[in-house]
Amino acid sequence: MTDLSSLIEQSAQACARARRGVALTGAGISIESGIPPFRGKGGLWEKIDPMKYAHIEALERNPAEVWQVLFLGIADHLTKAAPNAGHKGLHRLEQMGVLQTIITQNVDGLHQAAGSGDVIEFHGTHARLRCMSCHQSALWHTVSLEVIPPRCGCGGFLRPDVVMFGELIDTALLQRSQTLAATCDVMLVVGTSATVEPAAYLPVLAKHNSAFIIEINPEPTPLTHRISDVTLLGPAGEMMDRLVNKVADLRHGD
Ligand code: OAD
Repeated sequence: MTDLSSLIEQSAQACARARRGVALTGAGISIESGIPPFRGKGGLWEKIDPMKYAHIEALERNPAEVWQVLFLGIADHLTKAAPNAGHKGLHRLEQMGVLQTIITQNVDGLHQAAGSGDVIEFHGTHARLRCMSCHQSALWHTVSLEVIPPRCGCGGFLRPDVVMFGELIDTALLQRSQTLAATCDVMLVVGTSATVEPAAYLPVLAKHNSAFIIEINPEPTPLTHRISDVTLLGPAGEMMDRLVNKVADLRHGD
């Protein structure tokens, strides 16, 4: 058995035993859907300075510029994207009763599009807009983009309902995520550089509470060899396919 096959076997055995599995996902799981990540080669932060365009103070100072440079570009990628084998694999694990909840740092809605039922959008969602003055929500198709930034009926500027640098994670979502991390038996950490807090702490919390941590990423991260019990070094689509097929075999007693 190759090293990778044996790591997939170990991961599948942990999944097959799991009753309270949780996944933490990041931008890497959506790369195969054509959405660029933030860090690394081809990443968004290679092209634009996040402190200049992805910080709440930048949005408050110059909403038109942040819309032009950041939000419209992301929206363009998201409208063309569909779930890939990574998202579909996590949905299959939910159907098998292995996974309870997905905590995603992504704002692209692709886990829900793949069919996953319980998805915590830790960094919000790009699918919804929110008024910066009256906080009323709006959907993109109801809003005119002829003038950027688009405006709410109250006259305030609209923005995507995402968490920007300098903003806090919604308290209820943070507390639920921490509880799930502290009580899960397996955590799958897929496609995240695990460098942005407080999301990056969730696998640490899970590990300290005896969960088995399976990481899927083509590159090592700060979790690899420290927090992760197994790291499947490879792209999310292929690794998820292999893992899920193996879990299905174990469940059927092969
Ligand atoms: P990053 O862009 O930091 O990391 C993407 C990860 O995906 C890296 O570790 C890559 O090695 C990995 N990767 C690359 N190709 C992959 C593939 N085919 N399959 C699986 N993994 C692959 O993205 P995040 O960790 O999600 O926050 O970033 C966290 C947060 O930083 C984002 O939510 C965003 C950003 O600033 C906010 O905007 C608040």
